[in-house]
Amino acid sequence: MEGRDEDPQAPVPAQSGEKKRVLLLAGGQSEEHEVSLLSARSVLAALPADRFEVTPLVITRGGRWLSAGESQRALAAGKAEAGAGALALAGAAVTEQYDVVFPLLHGPMGEDGTVQGLLTLAGLPFVGSGVLGSAVSMDKVMTKQVLQAAGVPQVAWQLATRHEWRTDPQAVQQRAAQLGWPLFVKPANLGSSVGISKVSGSSELQPALELAFGLDRRVILEAMTAYKPREVEVGLLGNDAPQVSPVGELRFEADFYDYETKYTAGEASMHIPAPLPSEVAGEIQRLAVLAFRALDCAGLSRADFFYVEETGELFLNEVNTMPGFTATSMYPSLFQAQGLSYAELVTRLVELALEPR
Ligand SMILES: Nc1ncnc2c1ncn2[C@@H]1O[C@H](COP(=O)(O)OP(=O)(O)O)[C@@H](O)[C@H]1O
Ligand SMILES: [Mg+2]
Repeated sequence: MEGRDEDPQAPVPAQSGEKKRVLLLAGGQSEEHEVSLLSARSVLAALPADRFEVTPLVITRGGRWLSAGESQRALAAGKAEAGAGALALAGAAVTEQYDVVFPLLHGPMGEDGTVQGLLTLAGLPFVGSGVLGSAVSMDKVMTKQVLQAAGVPQVAWQLATRHEWRTDPQAVQQRAAQLGWPLFVKPANLGSSVGISKVSGSSELQPALELAFGLDRRVILEAMTAYKPREVEVGLLGNDAPQVSPVGELRFEADFYDYETKYTAGEASMHIPAPLPSEVAGEIQRLAVLAFRALDCAGLSRADFFYVEETGELFLNEVNTMPGFTATSMYPSLFQAQGLSYAELVTRLVELALEPR
């Protein structure tokens, strides 16, 4: 960093050869709070102790930053006490004591550019995408617009705002009908399948929109693929020239990959590599890198696709800039299949955060 010599207030940087001081942010305000705590335990155990000094900091569901002692307790218990901790802006002062931050947070107020903005203001390098890549990738409408411009295939979609739904519901209903049934209604900025409905006909549309607009001001309507799609995912690792993992597949019995299926053990199974024709797997990898660049991602991301076997169609569904990260999650498993262990992967992520860009 430039200008340290002139600034007596600047934190003392670690000398080269010294251990890097890593602040591991976990928990957070989204539905994936507990998943994040689980992932954090795995990362904490895996980062080599001879190279890194890792301090976990747990953010409560209410958005407060816990002290070191409270964080240790929350991590051990797998949940954080409500009410404890400091306001994020006050808590952020502790980041001065670290060389790099690993914001292992999923969903709103963690994966969406907010925490990334705070860390950027604090002048600290961090693992993963910056403000722009995080914010755009979190927002389903912005993602669709950017990927459309980049020529990445996607399902047909429409945007609706809460104001429009209140003042001109017929216009929203008409646009939905144009997409045809069934369709998916999703809050633009949520994740974990929360607030998502599969709508089979016009009579089901109103409750689905009420649910989604109760959670977000903007909602996306998406045409369903012609048949139940195969759900295939690929991992990306790197900054400007990311490496791409083999393609993995999720299989489950449920009608779609809803909240329960995602978080109930045994409801979904992972297949790596996905049994796919090699040209389909290659196309998934090519599109994933294209999307990573178009969205200005950095460090890591997982790109999720729908492959419609009956028609041969491939659609990019979404890009997750901080994918699930427990030792058995899809993202680390994809790289493990390529010979990169979990410990090597998390080490690489911290190195990538420290790379000049
Ligand atoms: N357009 C679609 N066609 C078919 N299935 C879909 C479509 N959109 C969503 N789904 C199903 O719903 C699940 C959740 O949707 P997704 O957009 O991935 O939400 P989230 O961001 O919460 O993970 C998908 O994994 C898939 O099973
Ligand atoms: Mg998804």
